[in-house]
Amino acid sequence: MAEPETDSSMESQVDVLSCVQPTAQLHIGNYFGAVANWVALQDQYRCAYGIVDLHAMTMPYEAEDLRRNSRAMFADLMACGIDPERSDLFVQSLVPEHTELYWILGSLCAYGDLSRMTQFKDKSALIGERGGKFVSAGLFTYPVLQAADILVYRSKFVPVGKDQEQHLELTRGLAHRFNERFGTVFHLPKPLFTETPKVMSLADPTKKMSKSLGEKHYVGLFEEEASLRAKVKTAVTDSGGPPQGMEVSPGVGNLLEILKASGRGDAAQMLEEYKAGTLKYSLLKGSVADTLVELTSGLRERRREILESADLDRAVVDLSARARTHAIATMERVRPAVGIPME
Ligand code: TRP
Repeated sequence: MAEPETDSSMESQVDVLSCVQPTAQLHIGNYFGAVANWVALQDQYRCAYGIVDLHAMTMPYEAEDLRRNSRAMFADLMACGIDPERSDLFVQSLVPEHTELYWILGSLCAYGDLSRMTQFKDKSALIGERGGKFVSAGLFTYPVLQAADILVYRSKFVPVGKDQEQHLELTRGLAHRFNERFGTVFHLPKPLFTETPKVMSLADPTKKMSKSLGEKHYVGLFEEEASLRAKVKTAVTDSGGPPQGMEVSPGVGNLLEILKASGRGDAAQMLEEYKAGTLKYSLLKGSVADTLVELTSGLRERRREILESADLDRAVVDLSARARTHAIATMERVRPAVGIPME
């Protein structure tokens, strides 16, 4: 699949696009592993970031939570440094071109390809494990909507984790099929697998940090100081050095990784001490806790200001409308190409 020839008609207004589901709250694993990278990418690229509330409807949910979480996620991303002066920030459902393109792409997508998606298999299994029986068609066609999210901005790069590789491959396939059949409109978007720190659970450092593991496993990005310190204090380390064949044990390695990711504290020095057998874990934990308190209290303050500002609801609507202009421009090319009328 070759990238289409570039002429002036292939200039797009967005280089990088990524999206996040509006979950209840971000944790430091989401921050160091994804959001901090999104923030940094703004220095190099024209970026667009979306809160995909329609995707969140594919798993059991409450309407009121969805509404509240989408609004809060908007504030959270701004507090983390997604800068609306430089980047587009939108709520997916406020840009209806996503769902329009989703339908068009759905007819270009093979049923068999969707049935091979591992995220679909995992999530439908999860519904079963939780005692549910209802697996929606929305969950099945989720990757087509994701392809529409990416293609409706005609974006070139998508920063995502490895778990999204299969969805990106599907997106490239759909873009290619569309271009072949109806004329070149889309870039074939590439995943951007930036090396980002992988933060593990504090209570079980062999597992990736995740809220679903339980309260003591993660540190919320806006967590209060007292509970944050308590969680770091009880984080799993090791007794008397690394297990056989390892340079560093998972628990200590994770704490050092967090320290390094935060850019504060001296992780390299502490690793040396660890290897020499002289590192005091109370010191390491103190340093990690101080670092995280500094990070989260700054973010919490900014988040509070944004959430309390009378302008937040306006900003959600206005910024989404601004992002929508790119999506409208794309659909002005897509509609005639596929044989449906323009307004
Ligand atoms: N499926 C992605 C996830 O689970 C979220 C997502 C939806 C997304 N649409 C996207 C990511 C478009 C990148 C681009 O994390």
